[in-house]
Amino acid sequence: MTIHDYMARQAARVNEALERLTPPEHAAPETIHRAMRYSLFVGGKRIRPVLAIAAADAVTPDMAGIEDAACALEMIHTYSLIHDDLPALDNDDLRRGRPTCHKVFGEAVAILAGDALLTLAFEVLAKLPYCGPMRRARIITEVAASAGTQNGMIGGQVQDLEGEGQPPTAELLHAIHKGKTGALLRASVRLGGFYAGASDLQDEALSLYGNHIGLAFQIVDDILDVEQSSEQLGKTAGKDAAQGKITFPAVYGLKESREMADEQLELALAAVELFGGRAHWLRELAMLVVRRRA
Ligand code: IPE
Ligand code: IPE
Ligand code: MG
Ligand code: MG
Ligand code: MG
Repeated sequence: MTIHDYMARQAARVNEALERLTPPEHAAPETIHRAMRYSLFVGGKRIRPVLAIAAADAVTPDMAGIEDAACALEMIHTYSLIHDDLPALDNDDLRRGRPTCHKVFGEAVAILAGDALLTLAFEVLAKLPYCGPMRRARIITEVAASAGTQNGMIGGQVQDLEGEGQPPTAELLHAIHKGKTGALLRASVRLGGFYAGASDLQDEALSLYGNHIGLAFQIVDDILDVEQSSEQLGKTAGKDAAQGKITFPAVYGLKESREMADEQLELALAAVELFGGRAHWLRELAMLVVRRRA
């Protein structure tokens, strides 16, 4: 099976679970459920839930219900995109190849759809059918912290916004990327590990892998913003430079940024050596993160 087949198979599994876990469009109040579903199901690579599944499989193969836990990551990620696109933040019109949530449903409903997806994610985690209380508590703690203000996603988003137009320093760049993107990606692999009963040593390996692919992911996101078209990306290209964002290309240039992404890939691959052959898909996913074109 190629990595593309694997991604397609796991993404289908995640989509089925998302379908089941998200309130239907006809449930009242309909507008909010339509907005949540619009943003969840218009596309998206599903990289975070697939990473969680691959990490769980590296620890203990075929854990029942892992896809439900993984869905919480996609809900939080989608909420972060809806809010990231709002006029008060990046002010984007295009996301996942379609008009952004606030363009279709208005700002108020887009804000609430983001809030609702974040809340639903924790409800899903709290109700996981096949997960014992210890594992559940570790998962919820990790996911909450990764989405939060201290070295988490919101902290990174605040630094990203406050950094606009500021001198792009390497220190600030690393702090922004670690928070806004790295934290949830690392939480994704740790969630998979916790769900499957990872030992401390295995969790350490997955955390390290998560740090490296998290950084690689945002370096590549920054590079693609420069190199690709809006059509290829399904979101507005060239936005970072236009908004004076602190990015890898802005600080290091494109060539060095590419090399740094490759370095992060090597470090990610080394981090999961202790899993041997069971880390096959984690290795393939790390390569995909760095070589992707969208
Ligand atoms: C985009 O994430 C936002 C970042 C954190 C860089 P993805 O590139 O995973 O977006 P989707 O989910 O595939 O749309
Ligand atoms: C967004 O980073 C990170 C989060 C949504 C938390 P970007 O602003 O670079 O993401 P894109 O490029 O709009 O997808
Ligand atoms: Mg942003
Ligand atoms: Mg953005
Ligand atoms: Mg970007």
